[in-house]
Amino acid sequence: MSRILVTGGTGYIGSHTVVELQNAGYTPVVVDNLSNSNVGVLDQIAKITGTRPEFHNFDLCDEGAVRAFVAGQPDITGIIHFAAYKAVGESVQQPLKYYHNNFFSLINLLNAYRDKPVNFVFSSSCTVYGQPDELPVTEAAPVKRAESPYGNTKQVAEEILSETAAAAGNYQVVSLRYFNPVGAHDTALIGELPLGVPQNLVPFITQSAIGKRGPITVFGNDYNTPDGSAVRDYIHVVDLAKAHVAAIKLLERGNPNGNYDVFNIGTGTGNSVLEVILAFEESTGVALNYRIGPRRTGDVEQVWGDVSKSTVELGWRAELGIADMMRSAWKWEQYLQDHPLT
Ligand code: UD1
Repeated sequence: MSRILVTGGTGYIGSHTVVELQNAGYTPVVVDNLSNSNVGVLDQIAKITGTRPEFHNFDLCDEGAVRAFVAGQPDITGIIHFAAYKAVGESVQQPLKYYHNNFFSLINLLNAYRDKPVNFVFSSSCTVYGQPDELPVTEAAPVKRAESPYGNTKQVAEEILSETAAAAGNYQVVSLRYFNPVGAHDTALIGELPLGVPQNLVPFITQSAIGKRGPITVFGNDYNTPDGSAVRDYIHVVDLAKAHVAAIKLLERGNPNGNYDVFNIGTGTGNSVLEVILAFEESTGVALNYRIGPRRTGDVEQVWGDVSKSTVELGWRAELGIADMMRSAWKWEQYLQDHPLT
């Protein structure tokens, strides 16, 4: 069965995608330098699927290591490229760290595959839309000036990929623009492992609920939204993982839209911060302690995706709702308390 290179395959979205690839009969080959993940994730994957994925520990910024790996792996037919730094605030503090890592890894991979046919799925983000003029936002909406170096790495990486695919016929590329990935695998054996204080809403909620953090701060309740808090399109990480399998399948059968394409990956509905808090409380029975604080710099007011293109052309749609997302995130937080990954 086809061997698919999964860079960043021990990370949050990567690990869930490895599971879904295995479930679909593919053989994922994981490359990760473990800079923001834990090697124990590989055993956790084995507990879910019965197969510990093949693993290679090296840094994709090391051009020689990438070339050596590719030379030794002639039967890889697809690449799903997750490996990247992703903390918005850190990217503002250390832009060069972000540009160096996120660009060199991508360029080294593309260069190493310049003479081989390859199906390439890229991990992009709805951050490329900024605050869209119209909601739900479609893939045809203009890309807005990035609010952070992190966001800029996603925008420029999409340009690098579309230009490279246009110039050389061997690359078939799809960029998936994720909305807000949350939740964990239903077994609670894999999930998000944030380093330090979580910057994202749902990991903060679960850590607050379990007593690792203090009260949650709702960043702003004076937005022009139904309840005043900011609105996002939250997508269950397992649904998101399945979108990658769908993208690989689309590339395998040949994308009629050509050799570069983009898809929104969300549920198509928005939830406010206060709705997420309520959904957590209702679906878990655990009360949260929260307070209203000022807006967070750089946040957009509201964004949710039009997912009709993904539904029709990718043959994928999200199946899990906000209650599933909250329940699974909570189950994972509880699992971690008893089974810290080493
Ligand atoms: C950000 C990035 C996105 C990235 C994602 C995952 C931008 C514009 N968005 O999404 O590209 O893929 O992180 O790293 O750069 N909130 C609170 N209290 C908290 C934490 C968050 O109220 O303690 C609110 C935020 O203001 C926001 C919502 O919750 O309205 C979601 O925030 P977060 O989970 O950080 O994701 P985004 O900022 O939407």
